[in-house]
Amino acid sequence: MSNYITTPIYYVNGEAHIGHAYTTFIADAIARHSRLIGEETYFLTGTDEHGQKIEESAAKNSKPTQEFADEISATFKNLWDEFNISYDQFIRTTDEHHKRGVQKAFEVMYAKGDIYKGHYEGNYCVSCETFFPKTQLIDDEFCPDCGRSTSTVKEESYFFKLSEYEDRLLAYYEAHPDFILPKSRRNEVINFVKGGLHDLSVTRTSFTWGVKLPKSLNDDKHVMYVWLDALLNYITALGYGDDEAKMDLWPANIHFVGKDILRFHAIYWPAFLMSLDLPLPKHIGAHGWWTRDGEKMSKSKGNVIHPKDVAEAYGLDNLRYFMMREVPFGQDGDFSQRAFIDRINSDLSNDLGNLLNRIIGMSGKYSEYIIDSKDVEKYHSKELQQMKSVLDSLDKYLDEIQMHRYLEELWKLFSIGNRAIEEHAPWVKIKNGQKDQALATVALIANILAKASLRLHGVMPETTKKIATALGFEMSSRYYKELILDDELLNTFTIEKVPPLFPRVDEPLIAEAPKAMPKADKQESENQEQKNEDNLITIDKFFETSLKIGLVVEAQEVAKSKKLLKLQVDVGEDKPRQVVAGIKEFYSPDELVDTQVCVVANLKPAKLMGMLSEGMLLAAKDSDGLSLIRPEKPKKIGTDIK
Ligand code: MSP
Repeated sequence: MSNYITTPIYYVNGEAHIGHAYTTFIADAIARHSRLIGEETYFLTGTDEHGQKIEESAAKNSKPTQEFADEISATFKNLWDEFNISYDQFIRTTDEHHKRGVQKAFEVMYAKGDIYKGHYEGNYCVSCETFFPKTQLIDDEFCPDCGRSTSTVKEESYFFKLSEYEDRLLAYYEAHPDFILPKSRRNEVINFVKGGLHDLSVTRTSFTWGVKLPKSLNDDKHVMYVWLDALLNYITALGYGDDEAKMDLWPANIHFVGKDILRFHAIYWPAFLMSLDLPLPKHIGAHGWWTRDGEKMSKSKGNVIHPKDVAEAYGLDNLRYFMMREVPFGQDGDFSQRAFIDRINSDLSNDLGNLLNRIIGMSGKYSEYIIDSKDVEKYHSKELQQMKSVLDSLDKYLDEIQMHRYLEELWKLFSIGNRAIEEHAPWVKIKNGQKDQALATVALIANILAKASLRLHGVMPETTKKIATALGFEMSSRYYKELILDDELLNTFTIEKVPPLFPRVDEPLIAEAPKAMPKADKQESENQEQKNEDNLITIDKFFETSLKIGLVVEAQEVAKSKKLLKLQVDVGEDKPRQVVAGIKEFYSPDELVDTQVCVVANLKPAKLMGMLSEGMLLAAKDSDGLSLIRPEKPKKIGTDIK
């Protein structure tokens, strides 16, 4: 079975940012995993270069459009190359073979009667490259998706009979419940289709930067609508309408997209494919939107995160891990250096890195770096059993692209390893002359690390290769088969010393202040700096604190403490957080339960009287006593306080 995986093709009107890197990392992780397990894999990425938006951006930069597109497209390609993204093809919609394929597809749809000529009257949002009927606009003018002003368009246009595909699309969603991932996004697509589909204008006459209509139509006033052109990249990359050599890779297994372009992929694209009599992709995986410290990223705010800066400062694999672990696939995520640092120090350095360091140290001390797995089953059948059940549970998360759950589950292996070391204390066994038992524990840990790294390879390719080198095996399909599929243990093997993989990080490594600052903001920022000297903070400093609306779901007195209450506060995450607060003199547990509070949500967890506290409540205290700060009206749990 082949596994064809794609990213969206990126518009060439600006440089890659962290959101683009995210989709590309996930797709790369899936592609690498797929190759490791021995599947035929094809991974496509590229750039989307036509349309009014690009034409206008080039004009603003006083460059010929093609030259402008060449330059920006190269910045994407170079970045992916520096990031070692394992794409098999980087397609550009200005590639001649792509244009030929698009024209061919247009011809086929036209010949079938799915495209007809008419007149378009309505509004167009250049930023979203989308037409909107008047009824959908905000205040008769603004784009319902991005809020920008739209322009009124009245022009001759070819239309695709999208309205005729409503029933077939609905039937398809019904029959393929996992077509749209995560499944929670399915309904929004279904409801959109049920709301009625208008025929889609698929050509424009008001600008020229696009694929021309096929010669057979003899109509050179028109160029193709950029989304028709762009979506077709997924098949023109395989040679559709040209040299069709790779078309046997179709249908794609998964198109990764951001939630903002789900509609194009889950409605228009399937309808185009139905019209072309081609099978539909198996999945559309729609991820959420990344913000920075709670703020939408935009050039004008100057708070765009440059993935290269972050990768250089913190390590590329660490960045990949953080992005895939931190945010449930499909949900919006926030990029904060604090959260990133916590993940590095706790998950990577403590859980994984320490285990590796310990095993290197112990194997050196006890057996001159030679490990033999023959006694593992004898002394560690319990751990082997636990390890197997974790490993067996992983595929279901991968199938649904729940990368954060996948990694969370995978990390249980390191707990099993760390527990085994504590319970079996190999250093005691050595002292007691039970060397075979001590070495069995060391071998167990080495096997845990080996198996875990085979399953972590897609997400952290370079790191896992280093772990494999340290443990004396290779990241290869052969070892995947032996250690994961056949559940074997490594035979006798030699440990190689490697430097610690995850040095701890104490402070943010890149400037919190926006990097590329627009001129207009520069003066402002200089003013801010001046103000700093007066003990004022910048807005960025303020946004380092994540404040959220929480609901107290449980409250208890802490015995022996005059001041402390132990609360469970729901801040919209998987489970409530425990907050230990010094408010006992002012509130009873009963009057707190079911009330809303304001929580500082990104404080380093601390221990108070031995109890973990994972947040702080906002309160004001004066000589009259203490009062919690609460929203004036109840707000949705987890809402950010700005
Ligand atoms: N060119 C179209 C896609 C055509 S695919 C046939 C496009 N390009 S884009 O450059 O604007 O966006 C590419 C991808 O980046 C989209 O999936 C979009 O969701 C994603 N992101 C852009 N900003 C983002 C964040 N801030 N966070 C996460 N992803 C975001 O759309």
